[in-house]
Amino acid sequence: MAQKKAISGFSKLTSGQKTEWLRDIYELPAEQLETISKHLHPDPQLQSLYSEFSENTISNFFIPFGLAPNFLINGRWYVIPMAIEESSVVAAAAHAAKFWSAHGGFRATVTGPVKIGQIHFHWNGSASLLTGVFRRNREKMIHTMDPFTESMRKRGGGIKNISLVDLSDNLNEFYQLHVEFNTADAMGANFINTVLEELAKVWKAEVERQAKVSDRPGELEITMAILSNYTPESRVNIWLETGVDALGSFDKQMSGRTFAEKFVRATEIATIDPYRAVTHNKGIFNGMDAVVIATGNDFRAVEACGHAYAARDGRYRSLSKAQITGETFRFELEVPMSVGTVGGLTSGHPMAQTSLKILQNPSAEALMMVIAAAGLANNFSAVRSLITSGIQQGHMKMHLTNILRQLGVDEKTKKEAVEFFKERTVSYTEVKSFIQDKNR
Ligand code: MEV
Repeated sequence: MAQKKAISGFSKLTSGQKTEWLRDIYELPAEQLETISKHLHPDPQLQSLYSEFSENTISNFFIPFGLAPNFLINGRWYVIPMAIEESSVVAAAAHAAKFWSAHGGFRATVTGPVKIGQIHFHWNGSASLLTGVFRRNREKMIHTMDPFTESMRKRGGGIKNISLVDLSDNLNEFYQLHVEFNTADAMGANFINTVLEELAKVWKAEVERQAKVSDRPGELEITMAILSNYTPESRVNIWLETGVDALGSFDKQMSGRTFAEKFVRATEIATIDPYRAVTHNKGIFNGMDAVVIATGNDFRAVEACGHAYAARDGRYRSLSKAQITGETFRFELEVPMSVGTVGGLTSGHPMAQTSLKILQNPSAEALMMVIAAAGLANNFSAVRSLITSGIQQGHMKMHLTNILRQLGVDEKTKKEAVEFFKERTVSYTEVKSFIQDKNR
């Protein structure tokens, strides 16, 4: 049987009924139905918690949760929880962290936690009337929101500023209220959106009232009120610094200076060429996303914000840069992001809570530094491999380990295989025939 028309009431079906529907209409084989059911959590209470994070849930999709130890950030040790499905990422982060912990560790600073919300509206009346109403009511509007901002203000947050932006030259009769928030340790998306929707009502009513009173009629139509995931004022700056000689340990054929120069060259390429920049930054987000996910934060928001920042001068560029000054090699990353350590999934997901405990209950700012450190560590390891042995050597080692695990070989054979494939290309067929030859 195939689906012939739209199904109504799908969301009302139980998860079991949804799976049956899949079986009947999409002829899902028994093996896949079993996989779906095997991946449900055995504890019904936990399963119902996970199911409710989303909609139409029929099972769970696991990704590994691992630890990258030895991160020394501003003199404090961290073991970083990472949720990621790609092999080599956690190992790469851990490897870089260990090396840099012996060379001063990561140094990081964070600029103010400014979050942005926008009320986009259409106004067909006089621009000067709009400006006048805004100027006279700006403070009052902030106070009108007091009932909605009270608990955030108690935590040191709230509305920090509102400005009126005239974009009518770019789009007919288009204006914005640009609202700056401090959301303390929360990412604050719900808080911001609630305030914006209330503020939009107050603003529309006030402008239209004053237009009427002053006999300069006009209509104000709110198009939408929503936070912006672009937070360029909420940035982490993180860097690593050591003498060039210390980098001599990465390749037998290269001195520390040669390594450093090649490394700088690689980041310069990622600065001028968008094709390379995207892959270079992807390596940064390998580390960042894994921590963002492990702590229950929104990786789509963090990615979108970072990529917009990478293109802030009109061309997509590397988020990190490297330089050599005299005998000193410096590698740094500057990236904006909006994350939280309270509220939302950070508080609701048991594994996110566990991650935050592992990170010693960081503030949002401390978490930003940890995320950036994982990003910079992964970036360092990726570029290091690329300019020395190439990326495949490490990947192939992992690939080989995975194949050997799948084939269920003993420790002795494992060691022999690792030795045999040191200088050879790894593939499932080759590894299998190596094992078969050995057992013959
Ligand atoms: C792979 O996930 C990431 C890299 O491609 C990053 C890079 O090329 O810098 C290795």
